[in-house]
Amino acid sequence: MTLKQSALAALAAAVGAQAQLFTVNCSPLTQFRGDPIVSPGILSSHVHAVVGGTAFSFNTTPAQARAATATTCDKVLDQSNYWQPQVYHQRTDGQFELVTFQGSATYYIQRACDYAPGRTNCDSAPPPIAPPQGLIMLVGDLNRRTFNASSFEDQAISHVCIDPNPVPDSNTFPSKQCQRMRSETFFPSCWDGVNLDSSTHKSHVAFPAIGAYNGGVCPQSHPKAILSVFYEFFYDTGSIQNYNRLVYADGDATGYSLHADYLQGWTDQNALNNAIATCTGPNGVLDKGCSLNVGPNGSPGSSSPQKLQTPAPTENIGLNGPISALPGNNPIH
Ligand SMILES: *[C@@H]1O[C@H](CO)[C@@H](O)[C@H](O)[C@H]1NC(C)=O
Repeated sequence: MTLKQSALAALAAAVGAQAQLFTVNCSPLTQFRGDPIVSPGILSSHVHAVVGGTAFSFNTTPAQARAATATTCDKVLDQSNYWQPQVYHQRTDGQFELVTFQGSATYYIQRACDYAPGRTNCDSAPPPIAPPQGLIMLVGDLNRRTFNASSFEDQAISHVCIDPNPVPDSNTFPSKQCQRMRSETFFPSCWDGVNLDSSTHKSHVAFPAIGAYNGGVCPQSHPKAILSVFYEFFYDTGSIQNYNRLVYADGDATGYSLHADYLQGWTDQNALNNAIATCTGPNGVLDKGCSLNVGPNGSPGSSSPQKLQTPAPTENIGLNGPISALPGNNPIH
């Protein structure tokens, strides 16, 4: 299966075949200890796998992202950056091997609706707006090591085993070695309507108040529904030799610490605003009227590796062989 096929197969299960949505498929951009949202200007505590616009650096702002010279994603208008913690394999001798990051799919999905007094479902509600220009948000928590079944944020992260003999999806890492693993994160779909960011990078957005983590009616505190953003990050876990266990770059061997960062860098907000209405018919993004079709030959574009405009730091993150400690010396905890 290609990345795209497996992403689409997963989608049917994850969000229902009838959902209004479009996807952004991205090649890897870089992996290093950078996080311009949580740790601007300094090394992050852990390595991230990053896709999207080539302006990604220690300090990227949404305005700088929009001015990037290229993107690894297949929609030329999308200079956003999407990232998650990198996955490592910890061998039985304790050393760490970088697991090959293969790329990602980001879904923009119509799943939530605005708060309105007395509204209990989204059946006749107006559709959500696109994430506003410059929106920044996080989902998940790098300190999580347990699961709270009543927490939408805990439910919003999961792992899929892509394998001829898969194990069920789980909030933990899969319980066996899989040909590939997909790390999934579903962002909050409700916005306060005012702030593009907040000190926690979370409190200006919220999960629905009525419904589920992945759709429903927004709370009065965060009344404005936005298109739901859902990431799938793919890893080549099948090529690991003498499989022992997976860990995230933050030192988590459970999988519960999976989290993700969103930095909205679309260069044409109108095109993004119109994408659900114009790109989700039978021909999808290939429809002639699709607002994202501004690339070569009137196509949305295609994904390809690109060079970072500011080179990544030279820290050895394991690209050339096993390393004795996770970058940043994160203990397994
Ligand atoms: C679990 O999550 C719910 C909903 O967010 C929260 O009210 C509750 O306090 C959490 N429980 C624990 C033990 O953290």
